Amino acid sequence: CGIVGYIGYRDAYPIIIKGLHRLEYRGYDSAGIALLDTDLKVYKKAGKVSDLENFVKDIPMAGSMGMGHTRWATHGAPSDRNSHPHSSGDRKLTIIHNGIIENYGIIKETLLAKGHVFKSDTDTEVLIHLVEDIIQETGLDLREAVRAALNKVIGAYAIVIMSADEPDLLIAARKGSPMVIGVGKGEYFIASDATPIVEYTKNVIYLNDNEIAFVHRDSLLVKNIDNTVQTPYIQELDLKLEMLEKGGYDHFMLKEIYEQPRSIRDCMRGRIYPEQGKVQLGGIKEYTEKLKNVDRIIIVACGTSWHAGLVGEYLIEEYARVPVEVEYASEFRYRNPIITEKDLVIAISQSGETADTMAAIELAKEKGATIFGVCNVVGASIPRTTHAGVYTHAGPEIGVASTKAFTAQVTVLTLMAFYIAQQRGTITRSKLVEYLTELNQIPELVERTLKVNDKVKEIAERFKDSNNCIFLGRGSSFPVALEGALKLKEISYIHAEGYPAAEMKHGPIALIDDAMPVVFIATKNSSYEKVVSNIQEVKARGGHVIAIVSEGDVDVKEMAEYTIEIPQTSEAFVPLLATIPLQLLAYHIAVMRGCNVDQPRNLAKSVTVE
Ligand code: G6P
Repeated sequence: CGIVGYIGYRDAYPIIIKGLHRLEYRGYDSAGIALLDTDLKVYKKAGKVSDLENFVKDIPMAGSMGMGHTRWATHGAPSDRNSHPHSSGDRKLTIIHNGIIENYGIIKETLLAKGHVFKSDTDTEVLIHLVEDIIQETGLDLREAVRAALNKVIGAYAIVIMSADEPDLLIAARKGSPMVIGVGKGEYFIASDATPIVEYTKNVIYLNDNEIAFVHRDSLLVKNIDNTVQTPYIQELDLKLEMLEKGGYDHFMLKEIYEQPRSIRDCMRGRIYPEQGKVQLGGIKEYTEKLKNVDRIIIVACGTSWHAGLVGEYLIEEYARVPVEVEYASEFRYRNPIITEKDLVIAISQSGETADTMAAIELAKEKGATIFGVCNVVGASIPRTTHAGVYTHAGPEIGVASTKAFTAQVTVLTLMAFYIAQQRGTITRSKLVEYLTELNQIPELVERTLKVNDKVKEIAERFKDSNNCIFLGRGSSFPVALEGALKLKEISYIHAEGYPAAEMKHGPIALIDDAMPVVFIATKNSSYEKVVSNIQEVKARGGHVIAIVSEGDVDVKEMAEYTIEIPQTSEAFVPLLATIPLQLLAYHIAVMRGCNVDQPRNLAKSVTVE
């Protein structure tokens, strides 16, 4: 879901539509727009932003202020009527909203009893009726009424409100859902992230939770929900327009896969000193004592970030010798977990906005734990809430299916594992010299790994019509198998499962027949022989084996139907290389099946609702 708003001297419509296109990467199922010229007009449609454009193509779209929204359905199915903006009963007020109003049911009942009539099933419509009701009941000015209404709602929101009677005012507010204001000359831009703003201005204000911005063409006033005036902090965006465009690739996902040699390099820059055998992580350097004494680390995350967390578990336990638990944030937050001040919690989130991860952090913080963040989006909510952290610096990731952000997360966790090991003395300097020298070469090895693209395409052609697929690996290649399966199901809609290779015998082996492709990660590392036995078990049952192997492998080559060679590395770095062909496999299969690779159905890039 995404928000764009404009108030200024230019035509608002093209700015808003372009902004909505920029936000498409976040995932959505309907779109809408409101413009104020001589009167307030609202247009909305289920489907893509281009469907909305088609719908209004013969209508004059005048107005120098307005707002647009892409909706990812929470309450009420995706439909024209549930799309935003939503208007008040007298149609003078209109709102767009990201997030969830949790107590909308009870507010709606009260409003229904007072005679309000609702046109949609959404929680958002209830909020704008509440504002209208407060104005009618108390005679408060719109600004005050919005503040009063927000004081009554429980939940998370980023909203923009406009009124037919206020031709020089957009009201924006946030609690738990991001909101950025771009500051121009005689104009302001509002958006749920900086991507729609960057081509107009680099000066932005990130609203904080519980802040309300009253945006006029020539001035801006930010207040807290308790009515105290705030001094907004204007910062400069470190984002270039090219980063948001495809740069000659067919899809953002492919561009982002190919960016990985660079993104991994950027992530390590200034942090490793191979000759000295030293890792430096400025973001957590104040926590040396904590790291020396920590006796448990809990990693919380969702989706792909959770897979990165599992890789982190192997690495941190192996090198730093601290017990690690990896938790789904959504489970952790609701099960009264045992956490103490001694614990270190590492929250991993590409967007830095995932609602469940955010809630898990709040909970752990309340219980006194120290929280580190591993995030990609600088200045997002999670890095602002954690005590300390390490950014992944992968650059904006637009494809909904995460690729370069995952390998950057794995890189940061690798650095963290070595950093913690260094603080605790569980690794010798000479070992660190060895490992860091190898890690320093990884970007080049990723580059070399990308050369498997043609081979992977050939494999994709062969298996594109499969209904199922199994991915197997052992050790830190097990989370890589999970991630390979997730990528395939997310973008090609083929049912896929990842399993630890040895667990196959305890269930999934029943699925193997001559229609089942099985992807093995079988590089020459500690469990190579064991994986070879697992491959034989699949072969014996007629399954089709695709194996990712180390360059020069002979044994697996004889057994597998297809092999994909990747450079040989220490076990610690296998995930960074083995992931690449799996990303490419999912990508090519999805393209061949005619799927929308960058915006797969039903998925959102940044899930700001629980
Ligand atoms: C969504 C995305 C996934 C992502 C997950 C966690 O489901 O579609 O790709 O892994 O959220 O997101 P985060 O931003 O917290 O890493």
